[in-house]
Amino acid sequence: MSVTILVGGQWGDEGKGKVVDLLAESVDMVVRSQGGNNAGHTVVANGREHRFHLIPSGILNPATLCIIGHGVVVDPSAFLQELERHQASGIDTRNLVISERAHMVMPYHPVLDKLGEEMRGDDRLGTTRRGIGPAYEDKVRRIGFRIGDLQKPVFLEKKLRFVLRLKNETLTKLYGAEPFDERAILDEYLGYAERIDPYIRDVYPIIQGALTEGRRILLEGAQGVMLDIDLGTYPYVTSSAPTAGGACTGSGIPPSRITRTVGVFKAYATRVGYGPFPTELDDALGESIRTIGDEFGTTTGRARRIGWFDAAAGRYAVSSNGIDSMVLTKVDVLDNLDAIRICTGYESKGELWDHPMANISHLKHCEPVYEDFPGWQTSTREARRYEDLPAACRAYVERVGELCGATVDVVSVGPDREHTLVRRLPL
Ligand code: GDP
Ligand code: IMO
Ligand code: MG
Repeated sequence: MSVTILVGGQWGDEGKGKVVDLLAESVDMVVRSQGGNNAGHTVVANGREHRFHLIPSGILNPATLCIIGHGVVVDPSAFLQELERHQASGIDTRNLVISERAHMVMPYHPVLDKLGEEMRGDDRLGTTRRGIGPAYEDKVRRIGFRIGDLQKPVFLEKKLRFVLRLKNETLTKLYGAEPFDERAILDEYLGYAERIDPYIRDVYPIIQGALTEGRRILLEGAQGVMLDIDLGTYPYVTSSAPTAGGACTGSGIPPSRITRTVGVFKAYATRVGYGPFPTELDDALGESIRTIGDEFGTTTGRARRIGWFDAAAGRYAVSSNGIDSMVLTKVDVLDNLDAIRICTGYESKGELWDHPMANISHLKHCEPVYEDFPGWQTSTREARRYEDLPAACRAYVERVGELCGATVDVVSVGPDREHTLVRRLPL
């Protein structure tokens, strides 16, 4: 039996999708446990690019059961569109299941997301505007709708009458926006119900059965530790827990059954949206890395901000999640650089910090402390084993692991499956 948690170690977009695809063929089950269609996971398989938002990236492996766990917020319309897109490209989606307990993104959530951002003005967060924050707000406020409610039209109607009063009050009185019509929402969502019905399950016996039978399970994280609602750069975070802890609560798998926690990190850092980013390269070098690394969001197409690898944040992610194995992606993007830096800590108000401070104004204005490395200035794309990498590149990779406090077991030097150097399969 093995239960492996895979988390993003930075601010998301570390290449989790690629790593899930790599590991999926060695597991029986892949479970998404948090986030929603704010996620964008790109997998390149056999020369074709696949983009996943709600559906686990493990679906490319037809033998793997893919579960959307109860911690995920599911926009039914986005789910069905994604499902149809994958089916049209020939992906077998019969092995896909959604927990009846997963909450739904309702039509008013993206609207409230957008209006909330506009009201914040210069302090906006730069959300994906997919309604993820408002959906989690309603879940915690206990006025959320769950996927299983699609199978209970009478309950859905009664509850919507009550909830929509609150929502329309906010929309019209606070934001001066148009109210939503109850009948239109019901017709829309009951229309989805029939199409989603075959995927809805009580996931509890499926997961418990797999644990009892000693199956191999992979928990696919979305976003990254620095976007975590508690550990991240609050309030510039997402509204879920993209951590190892969040993977347990969002799937119903107890912490005592976890056998390994893998952290996916990029060889440099990126961030989409606003918020402190100490190692940011707001210059021509950053621009060049963005172009070479094709750092534009999978979900919103926004240009990602670029920075040097932040090992102070990396160590924080490793230790607070119990990451015992690291995957370092996009090493090839640094191939042309003559010098590379790693941030080892921050100087703020005369003090040295070895981890991100909670005070985001201090984090925004701190001075990163760097270690400097010579670049390898050789293409790493053709490497097929770790030993094929130039010595300077291996020195960089190993120093990243050492500073973060875990071993780098996999190095990725390109988007394809073949561009993956596995020193030890982290399962
Ligand atoms: P995720 O959200 O963590 O799954 O990451 P994204 O899919 O949003 O972003 C990672 C991007 O980098 C995708 O377009 C991948 O195809 C690509 N990618 C993954 N690993 C590598 C790599 O080692 N080198 C290069 N050049 N691209 C990679
Ligand atoms: P994957 O799974 C990168 C960011 C948004 C914004 C903040 C809050 O592809 O790594 P939200 O819409 O969640 O309320 O936005 O979080 N964000 C991501 N950044 N990758 C993601 O997912 C992200 N999901 C959310 O840009 O700054
Ligand atoms: Mg992404």
